[in-house]
Amino acid sequence: MGKDVIIALDFASAGEVFDFLGKFEEEKPFVKVGMELYYAEGPSIVRAIKERGHKVFLDLKLHDIPMQVKKAMAVIAGMDVDMCNVHAAGTIDMMKAAIEGLTRQDKSRPILIAVTQLTSTSEARMRSELLIDEKIEDVVAQYAKNAKTAGLDGVVCSPLEAGIVKAACGKEFAAVTPGIRFADGSMDDQSRVTTPAMAKEIGSDYIVVGRPITGASDPVAIYRRCVAEFIG
Ligand code: C5P
Repeated sequence: MGKDVIIALDFASAGEVFDFLGKFEEEKPFVKVGMELYYAEGPSIVRAIKERGHKVFLDLKLHDIPMQVKKAMAVIAGMDVDMCNVHAAGTIDMMKAAIEGLTRQDKSRPILIAVTQLTSTSEARMRSELLIDEKIEDVVAQYAKNAKTAGLDGVVCSPLEAGIVKAACGKEFAAVTPGIRFADGSMDDQSRVTTPAMAKEIGSDYIVVGRPITGASDPVAIYRRCVAEFIG
């Protein structure tokens, strides 16, 4: 599993995306396309970013009956994305169906990772609303194990949970971690954050960084700072 910094392209339109990517003249960063941008612009935004030479993580967090997920994943595989994801809550059968749909005729496929429990879900709400009466760390570890059993490559998790995931699933199982901030930067609406250097130490494989880069006056310089701290 390669180590990399993924920039979250949390923009509302293709125009804003290309203005932003135009600032990168030397590097071709790995980027994440989320629901807002994808639903606004459709598959053409993914193709256009790929044509410019970037790797793409399509963050659509699929969660449906296995047959629907399999068919949707076959479409995503045809878009030549490099990474995509599902909710582990959809069960092992759903995740196996996702792999089947994603696997191309030549047996290649994008990296597939699972969301365990969203970091916005607190243990208290998991108990009172979802009726899951376990510690959230145990739920994250179990969902990660389910993802591994289904044949997935890793999970999205808080950098602070990367150690739990590695302990449950082994160090080859990828931890893709948002919630990255510099020690001297703003937290925005994130609460459990770590620096790129700390994420490296805890064992993240990919860090996902949005506003610290997209909101910077010199995004290229901040991207380089992330790469230097995380990859060295
Ligand atoms: O701007 P910021 O660095 O907070 O962006 C982080 C990105 O990672 C956003 O696209 C956000 O949706 C995503 N993300 C997250 N926490 C999760 C899962 C995804 O912040 N648990």
